[in-house]
Amino acid sequence: MISQAMEKAINTQINKELYSAYYYAAMAAYLDNEGFEGMANFMKAQAHEETEHAQKFYDYINEQGGRVILGAIDQPPVDYDSPKQIFELALKHEKYVTSLIHELVTLALEEKDYATKAFLDWFVTEQVEEEATMESILNKFKIIGDSGHALYMLDAKLGERAPATAAEDDD
Ligand SMILES: [Fe+2]
Ligand SMILES: [Fe+2]
Repeated sequence: MISQAMEKAINTQINKELYSAYYYAAMAAYLDNEGFEGMANFMKAQAHEETEHAQKFYDYINEQGGRVILGAIDQPPVDYDSPKQIFELALKHEKYVTSLIHELVTLALEEKDYATKAFLDWFVTEQVEEEATMESILNKFKIIGDSGHALYMLDAKLGERAPATAAEDDD
C-alpha cells in the first residue's frame, strides 16, 4: 500500500509525464512543418518514451492497490524560434522533471516508503540519461553555429534514432 499523499503525488507525475509526451510531440510537429524530419523523428521517439514513463507510474499505483486518476493535460507551446531553441527547451524541461522526481524521492523517504523509493530509483537514473542526451545534442548545435550544411547533417543523424518500442525497453 502507498499513502494517499503518495498516490496523489504519483498521479500528478503521470500527468507531468503525459504533458512531457505532448510537449515533445508539439516540438515534433513544429520540426516536421519546418522540414527537419530527422529531428521530428527524434522528438516523436522521445514523446513515446514519455508515455512509457507515465505507464510505469500507472502500473505502480495499481500494483500498490491505489487508484489512477487522469487529469487534463495542458496545451504545449505551438511556436518555437529554431531547432536549437527546441533542444534548449527540452533540456530545461528535463531538468524540471528531474526536480519533480527528486521531490517524489524526498516524499518517499519522509514517509519511510522504501518500496516507492526503490521504484523511483529507476527514474533517478533515467533522468541523468535524459539530461545528458539533450545536453550532448545542444553541444552539437553550439559547434554547428550558423552552418546550414552541418544543420542538415545533424538532422539526418537525429533521424537515425529508432522509434521506441516496448521490446527495446531496458526495464
Ligand atoms: Fe519522463
Ligand atoms: Fe524525459
